[in-house]
Amino acid sequence: MLNKSTPTLRDGTRIEDLFNLETREVSLSTMYDPEIHQIEMEKIFTKVWLLLGHASEIPKSGDYVVRYMGQDEVIVSRDRKDEIHVSLNVCPHRGMHVCTAESGNAQVHKCIYHGWAFRPDGSFVGAPLEKEKMHGEIYPKEKLGLKKARVQLFHGLIFATWNQEAAPLEDQLGDMKFYYDIMFGKTHGGMEVLGAPQRLTIPANWKTAGEQAACDGFHTLTLHRSQFDIGNFGNISDTMDEFIPIMQGVNVAQKGNALRCISAATTFTSLIGSGEDFSKLSDLEKITKLPPPGIVTEQLLAEMKERLSPEQIHVCSVAPPQVGNMFPNVNLLFIYAPLPDGTLGSGYVIHTINPMGADKFQWITWFLCEKDTPEEIKDIIRAVAVQTGGTSGLIEQDDSDTWPHMTIAAKGAWGRTETLKYQAIGGENRPEGWPDKAHVYAGLSKDDAQWHWWLQYHELMTQ
Ligand code: FES
Ligand SMILES: [Fe+2]
Repeated sequence: MLNKSTPTLRDGTRIEDLFNLETREVSLSTMYDPEIHQIEMEKIFTKVWLLLGHASEIPKSGDYVVRYMGQDEVIVSRDRKDEIHVSLNVCPHRGMHVCTAESGNAQVHKCIYHGWAFRPDGSFVGAPLEKEKMHGEIYPKEKLGLKKARVQLFHGLIFATWNQEAAPLEDQLGDMKFYYDIMFGKTHGGMEVLGAPQRLTIPANWKTAGEQAACDGFHTLTLHRSQFDIGNFGNISDTMDEFIPIMQGVNVAQKGNALRCISAATTFTSLIGSGEDFSKLSDLEKITKLPPPGIVTEQLLAEMKERLSPEQIHVCSVAPPQVGNMFPNVNLLFIYAPLPDGTLGSGYVIHTINPMGADKFQWITWFLCEKDTPEEIKDIIRAVAVQTGGTSGLIEQDDSDTWPHMTIAAKGAWGRTETLKYQAIGGENRPEGWPDKAHVYAGLSKDDAQWHWWLQYHELMTQ
């Protein structure tokens, strides 16, 4: 049994002993251990804000989707007052899942076992045979609703937490909110999902994907090499040295959140290649020539200039945030991609990595774009996103090949004694003019930003 007061495993290993903060190493055993997994569920997944979806998935009263908070199923639904609720999908009668569909529309969710019924806000309607009082007389109806999570929206993204004491989501995002506002809040209409998310179960520990999302730029050179070979990342010749420019940019990180802001000059040269000296342009000229991924019309560009601060515009002009995470289990991919006709396309992908045990996670993939993007361009954005970041996408096929291997390695009696190493250190380095937001690591993408993910994990797990 777990010792609740100190995080210590059955064999006497303290959670603290799994880390060497000085040499920046983490025991590989963390990538498969049912006891550690159980502690993670208690110390992380019941404590932090978790991303469950986007408000545009449930636009009408009664619309709902079923999602996960840790290993708990929840119903995310919209009520008649247009409020979004997150309720535990567990019937308070005998524990059946109240909702057995993945999505739909219902003003009443009726448990199929004995018929107890609940509203979209989780409140109890009643049980069949009302006059027989089949729900008993011990608890009033007000006490028989579904358990409720706290809900907070961030630019349409739906977050929830079970933690009644948790500070607002902004605290969890920290200074990184400055960059997430750029990604999600740059147009008046906001974003919308392009259809229902894809779902896939991957036989791997959730952290293999979770820590990678926090700025593992290094593997782009190697694991994703085929992306360069087929021209998905622009025209780059096939020598490894020449891949390095796309690794240049600014990594930013804080509280386990991390983003890779990839050099706009590099993108301009490799994807547009007009021969113009990008560095000589002003900030506004730069974002006009190379708007952030998804800003595809003059109207959207004008809105972006209106909504973002000069500091945020500067970030977009030097290195727009493109790849990264939100702690603990969100993966973001806002990428440029050249289209067959030579023009520049883009794709927005969000993944969540939902643990389903120590060696299994559910990988949910949403495709999004700005709501006011013209319909024909939405089709292109959807196609680019599916082709790159979808469950059968070229990028994610690469990534999802490594995660099960790491998990299997962590199961071995000898393998679990190996460590994960984050020792390629560049050090903090803020380019001139870059805003004082979060920890900033300019230059070649190294392990600095990714290490923040483990520091946050360590902090929560050792409390
Ligand atoms: S378990 Fe749901 S009504 Fe009995
Ligand atoms: Fe990857």
